[in-house]
Amino acid sequence: METVSELRSAHKALRAAVLEIANTRAACLNELPARRRAAAIEMFEHGLRCGLCMHVFAKAVRDCTGLPIEVNDLAFAAVYHDIGKLCVPAELLLAPRPLTPDERTIVQSHVTWGCVLARRALRVMRIPDPALRCALEVAALHHERWDGHGYAHALVGQSIPLAARMMAIVDCYDVIVSPRPYKSAGSHGHACGIIEADADSAFDPALVKTFLSIEHEVELTNSAWWRSPSVVRGKC
Ligand SMILES: [Fe+2]
Ligand SMILES: [Fe+2]
Repeated sequence: METVSELRSAHKALRAAVLEIANTRAACLNELPARRRAAAIEMFEHGLRCGLCMHVFAKAVRDCTGLPIEVNDLAFAAVYHDIGKLCVPAELLLAPRPLTPDERTIVQSHVTWGCVLARRALRVMRIPDPALRCALEVAALHHERWDGHGYAHALVGQSIPLAARMMAIVDCYDVIVSPRPYKSAGSHGHACGIIEADADSAFDPALVKTFLSIEHEVELTNSAWWRSPSVVRGKC
């Protein structure tokens, strides 16, 4: 069993990796027009928080199930799960109002774009990269639902890959506890309540149980993020 100090140094290593990614991205973001840059910053910050949360969650799922889960691959995939949003109009991503059905369909296309981008990245690599393969799966399938009412493929239950089922929970948590252009931040307790209520409909009930068993650690990770200076925004 891992000691607290091992856990802390793993966190530190992952945090260093995600900050490096953020810094690289921030340099690129300076080249973008203002609205596109704002949308990209929001997407990357959400991704970085999800990466940190996934790191905690993936360890818990690995310990609980005994499955050979690659924690760092999953955390990497979580950072990039919404990468397809770079291909969606920024006006829709930043809209401080409910979207029309047509607009929602356009935003939902980010899963298809994410898949396209990850495939391109895999093609240019000389050797198959497991983290990138995991990122492709997560980018394409993180909006599937346990009950089959998700998008883009309406997969049901365990036909949804484990990584994508885990991502759905982490994504939901971060969306609720973070401010968005159309809403203020919700509390940790509210997020956990919604996730618990949606077990067996939106989410894999066994994974929800594991997530709630480490919710204190998730809360600590999330509050540490919000206490630290903005890593991406501060660079632009
Ligand atoms: Fe998404
Ligand atoms: Fe997301």
